Amino acid sequence: MVKFYLDNKIARLIILQRIELATPLLKKIRKLFGRSIFSNYITKFFLNANSINKNYYTLMQSELRLLENYLDFNNKELLSIGGGVGGLELLISKKYNCFFNFIEKNYISKKVVYGWDDNNNEGYNDLNLLKSFLLRNDMNKEKFKIFDYDQDILPDKKFDIIISLYSLDYHYDFNIYYKYLKKVSHKKTILVLDTIRAESFKIFFNKVEIIKNDDQTVHKSKRVMCTDII
Ligand SMILES: C[S@@+](CC[C@H](N)C(=O)[O-])C[C@H]1O[C@@H](n2cnc3c(N)ncnc32)[C@H](O)[C@@H]1O
Repeated sequence: MVKFYLDNKIARLIILQRIELATPLLKKIRKLFGRSIFSNYITKFFLNANSINKNYYTLMQSELRLLENYLDFNNKELLSIGGGVGGLELLISKKYNCFFNFIEKNYISKKVVYGWDDNNNEGYNDLNLLKSFLLRNDMNKEKFKIFDYDQDILPDKKFDIIISLYSLDYHYDFNIYYKYLKKVSHKKTILVLDTIRAESFKIFFNKVEIIKNDDQTVHKSKRVMCTDII
């Protein structure tokens, strides 16, 4: 497989979740018309799903390659916080035998803000679409569960690997998940996330390793791998 099976609705979610995949023209249109018109109108009718698919697939492959240098996914219990449409998790599931838990938001904000959100009001997902995308791309229905962050009781078990790319502490405060993460982590649980304050994570974890620097982007974030939560 060199692409995912996806339709225009999923392509729209991907653009809302990964704005770097928008073409320069789309980004210009966003600047010109504003984020509200871009999110609610332009992304509904003016996307090239095929090229978004190819680029998203390539990007998720490179995300997986990086993580594979540090993590062994086989026979692991995984938690994905803000995994978007789950392209990375799909690629992991093709290669490794593991179980996925997704915690996500089940709405798309009227005006998508791509920065920090103190109140964590921003959501760019649709959990029915997420489920159908995973199934359409052959993820076994016995191998995953999806939880709505705002409505569901969150899974209460110990996870081996927790992944939150460009979500927890990138768009909203780590503290809103800290207590929960303490409950669902064991000593060797590994959490991977993107943040602009990597140093602060030494307050929360005994081991913090930087595995990637995004210094060419506006946010200048770092990807950290944290173990042994305090
Ligand atoms: C920038 S997107 C990143 C998506 C995906 N991780 C990726 O790398 O393509 C951030 C995601 O976090 C989700 N999100 C926002 N608040 C959340 C929360 N409290 N819990 C879980 N997910 C959340 C959004 O709905 C969105 O899908």
